[in-house]
Parts: sequence; structure tokens; C-alpha cells
Amino acid sequence: MSRKRVAILISGRGSNMAALIEAAKDKTYPAEIVLVISNRPDAGGLLVAQANRIATEVVDHTAGKDRPTFERALQAVLERNRIDIICLAGFMRLLTAGFVSRWQNRIINIHPALLPAFKGLDTHRRALEAGVKVHGATVHFVVPEMDSGPIVAQAAVSVRPGDTEEGLAARVLKVEHQIYPLALKLVAEGRVRVENGRCLVDSIPVPDSAALVPLE
Ligand code: GRF
Repeated sequence: MSRKRVAILISGRGSNMAALIEAAKDKTYPAEIVLVISNRPDAGGLLVAQANRIATEVVDHTAGKDRPTFERALQAVLERNRIDIICLAGFMRLLTAGFVSRWQNRIINIHPALLPAFKGLDTHRRALEAGVKVHGATVHFVVPEMDSGPIVAQAAVSVRPGDTEEGLAARVLKVEHQIYPLALKLVAEGRVRVENGRCLVDSIPVPDSAALVPLE
């Protein structure tokens, strides 16, 4: 089976991007990372991608571009590179419903919380403020509504007494780096089906795949 062609969209340091690149170095991994796109020319992740000999593109969202113009440019780059699957990895732009529906079930995102809890920004601070005892990360299909699509994989970490935002963020990031490659693998293998807004994973039940990531 041919490997799916993946573009990763970033805006920053790209540690999740790096985890996906690392996983895809294995020739048996069902996806290859063919392109990294940043909306910011100064994103640190671009250098990491280049060091790994991955092609990079900057589609700058500033420079007087409105959202439709930005997305047209993005779509053109994706088509030119014959991209099958988009992975958002710390990509800090909202995508329009039109763009997202064009990529329906072929665009995934990682969010640093156990969705549907703590959508949006500052998830670790808000988790600490809420006093939750378990926090984590979610990979989900992207739908027009922010942080709301069908859940592909999740991993949990326990919140420790005296935890700081930074400490908690670091532990969550560690499991992000585990579940994102796992989720992309399942999607690229065509083993994830969306039914009634929920993901069904063929062959292995979802709890088992999530359990590959230990609760810390
Ligand atoms: C991660 O915490 C991810 O879950 C969120 O943004 C952060 C990006 O970090 N969407 P990195 O650029 O992957 O290091």
C-alpha cells in the first residue's frame, strides 16, 4: 500500500511536527511527511523540518492577505504537493468552514487537553484552576467549530499536587508526542471511520489504542 502524503501545518517550535517526522522515518509507517507549511516565516519548526530534509513553505497570513486569499494560497500549495492528509501541529490560525469541509476527515489536529474539556487557549492554566485530577491531550478530526471534531486518540496524565502550568504542560507534551504519531498511523491506514460524529477504529478497539500510552 502506498504511503499517504502528509503536510504538517505549524506556527511555532514544532515539537509535535518533529515527533511525526521521526515516526515517519520508519519505511513501514503508512504516511510520509512531504511538506511542512508555516503561516509565520520565523517559526522555529521550519529549521527543524529543513534539518530533516523535509520541504518547507511559508504561507504568510499577514502581508495584507485576507482569510480567503490566505486559504487559496494554502490550498494551491497542498494541491501542488498532492497532499492526502493535513496535520495541524500548533497551527495558530482558524480555518474557514469552506476549507475544512474540503478536507473533511483528512485533516487532524492535536489539542493539549482532554476534549471536550478545555477547548481554546491556556488549557493547562485552566485545568489547574478547575482542580481537575486528570488532564491530557486529544487528536481529533478538524471541523468548522474549534476543537470540536471526532476524537481519534487521547492520552491522560494525572495532575499532581503543587503542579505548575509549565510542569503540567511538559508532561502533557510528552504524551502528545506519543499519540499524534499513533493517531496519524490509524488515519493513514484507513482504520478510522467517522459515524455520527464519533470515530470508530477498525481492528483494534479505541480503548486499547489509547492504552498504548500509559497513564502517568
Ligand atoms: C501543543 O501543545 C499542541 O497541542 C498545541 O500547540 C502546541 C504546539 O506545540 N496545539 P509544538 O509546536 O508542537 O511544540
